[in-house]
Amino acid sequence: MPVDAMYQALKAKLHDVVPDVELRYKAELAVEVNRLKKEKNAVILGHSYMEPTLYHSIPDYRGDSLELSRKAAQTDKDIIIFCGVRFMAETAKILSPSKTVLLPAKEAGCSLATSITADDVRRLKARFPGVPVVTYVNTYADVKAESDICCTSSNAKAVVESLPDDTIIFLPDEYMARNVAGETGKHIIFPGLSSRIDTEVDFQLVGWHGRCEVHEKFTVQDIARIRQQFPDVVILTHPECSPEVVDASDFSGSTTAMIRYIEQTQAPRYLLLTECAMGENVAAANPDKEILQLCSVRCPHMNQITLEGVRDSLLHTQYVIEVPEEIRMRAAQAVERMIAIGASGA
Ligand code: 13P
Ligand code: SF4
Repeated sequence: MPVDAMYQALKAKLHDVVPDVELRYKAELAVEVNRLKKEKNAVILGHSYMEPTLYHSIPDYRGDSLELSRKAAQTDKDIIIFCGVRFMAETAKILSPSKTVLLPAKEAGCSLATSITADDVRRLKARFPGVPVVTYVNTYADVKAESDICCTSSNAKAVVESLPDDTIIFLPDEYMARNVAGETGKHIIFPGLSSRIDTEVDFQLVGWHGRCEVHEKFTVQDIARIRQQFPDVVILTHPECSPEVVDASDFSGSTTAMIRYIEQTQAPRYLLLTECAMGENVAAANPDKEILQLCSVRCPHMNQITLEGVRDSLLHTQYVIEVPEEIRMRAAQAVERMIAIGASGA
């Protein structure tokens, strides 16, 4: 696509969100990225949290963690550029070891992924022998390798319910674990690594204390304030929010589930309690719908991915994601078991 056509396409979608001068500059970058992508036989995967000009111009596929990991497993391209955070790019490498997987930023971490180590999981397994470990994909490969099965925000309940065991270890997101416990009627405990377990306590889920630094910031008071101002608002939350926030909302689901919900319903207005870029992307894709924003919160990791970074990643083959083969093979089992279950158990 020539630069002017790209500029017009971006302008049609983003004229309310991005200043015109920036749109022109971004259109040039997007065209260069798309040219390099073809030349290098690359595929670009774009998570729902990518900034609007990137999200609407270069990804071959957009979606939530589960959908993008499926695409990564299926691609026949030589290079996978993951426009998301490191654990997502690692998951792509786990599933497609023969491909070159590139993350267009050096770090792009995640507060959940850094909340737990493989050693922590081994110690938990020693404390709860024989109890299966379900690990949220927002973890690094060595943690996945210690797990029986992974899950994403779109299939956490289905994954837990797929296991025949009475008791399950669910790591590392405290709030997602509490949300799953509520949905499945399980009692959850959060044992410290060194403290004793009270054998009298009845529990079916063992959680960890990881939190998403973005979603933990939303409060029930935010919801009450917005509802007071806009009584007809429909509020959507990501399951990384606290159970109190999820309960006070109208719908909770993965980033794609929230996008679909808005596409398929007709409400006067919506509020998305999740990373802000997604609100802008949803507003651009649904010009007939009013999307309210609560934008004090941005993911500092997702925000490291830029069009400039993607161009440089294609030009210089950076930053290459590697996973040691012994860890990759064990992590792949946990991710593939999850993929076989699918979204919401479908
Ligand atoms: P999704 O799997 O819903 O896209 O979420 C990933 C994530 O990091 C949310 O903060
Ligand atoms: Fe991690 Fe939260 Fe950022 Fe998602 S939004 S990548 S869970 S820190």
